[in-house]
Amino acid sequence: MTHLVTLIPGDGIGPEVAEATVRAVEAAGVSIEWERVEAGERALATLGHLIPDDVYASIEATHVGLKGPTATPIAGGHRSINVALRKRFGLYVNFRPVRMLAGLKTRYQDAAINLAIFRENTEDLYSGLEHEIVPGVVESLKIITQHASTRIARAAFEYARRENRAKIVAIHKANIMKLSDGLFLKCCREIASHYPEVQYSELIVDNACMQLVMRPETFDLLLLPNLYGDIISDLTAGLVGGLGIVPGANLGDHHAIFEAVHGTAPDIAGKNMANPTALMQSAALMLAHLGEREASARLQNAIEAAYANRDSLTGDVGGSATTTQFTDAVIRRMK
Ligand code: NAI
Repeated sequence: MTHLVTLIPGDGIGPEVAEATVRAVEAAGVSIEWERVEAGERALATLGHLIPDDVYASIEATHVGLKGPTATPIAGGHRSINVALRKRFGLYVNFRPVRMLAGLKTRYQDAAINLAIFRENTEDLYSGLEHEIVPGVVESLKIITQHASTRIARAAFEYARRENRAKIVAIHKANIMKLSDGLFLKCCREIASHYPEVQYSELIVDNACMQLVMRPETFDLLLLPNLYGDIISDLTAGLVGGLGIVPGANLGDHHAIFEAVHGTAPDIAGKNMANPTALMQSAALMLAHLGEREASARLQNAIEAAYANRDSLTGDVGGSATTTQFTDAVIRRMK
């Protein structure tokens, strides 16, 4: 069976890691017809729109996207494309599995890190509701709803049940934001009460950061509102080798977009230096989502096998190989 997938290469290192990933997916022995569309600053420059209509139309039709990073200007300029896509397609779950790749040398190489993040993807401070009340005073609205908090909690507990994961910790700052984070916790507790087999606990976000750095191997599933989820995703990526490694999935009831945690890495764009592991691992998640479990495992195993040889690795993880050389090494392991 041929799967139709929307491919958004994106900006900066996006096209390089996307091309590498397409090659690796094709070597995994699965038939994919890629519908390539442009979004991001390149699309703005060449087509006049950050998210041209054909991007929406394509995802609407294929239901599945693989996306490279897209640039968002800091303070001012256009809103994030990711936020727009997540809202448009109701992608309320941001799922990020964080696992130590065997063979990778990091400060935490001896810790058996195998955690996964469930980040609420549609509200919180990412609602983009900011305004100036009077000059010198700005208000930014943090929106937390029962509806969104309940559905992300349910997604995490359903995953725990399906994948036999033992523990979920909800992360919050309800000691200060008693109403908003308080509501998030209330919803998590309500859902937790229906899953007695999953051990449920809560941690204040600052303490969670400290515990993650000191004892990352004690964490299993993390359940977080949007902002804490964003920050802690990068923290946990740092534990297992950095942003070049960690994959991600934005999941809704009808659509899914798979993308790496990292950004456009303007400092190394166009130099054939970027590590495509994160997007390749995102593609492995995508293949499993498409029901191609064998191809997904083949790709995942090949990536992990490539990490056994330091000569195959890119600079960010201590090697000196190019994007192309790493990709060739992954593909060789699937032959
Ligand atoms: P970044 O993730 O692009 O870069 C941070 C550091 O990590 C840089 O030193 C970079 O070279 C390195 N890095 C990132 N990915 C790498 C990879 N695959 N291989 C090797 N090294 C890698 O974060 P930054 O600089 O904060 O953001 C740059 C741009 O990316 C901004 O416009 C931001 O809005 C955008 N961005 C987009 C995201 C997305 O589309 N999903 C996510 C995060 C940022």
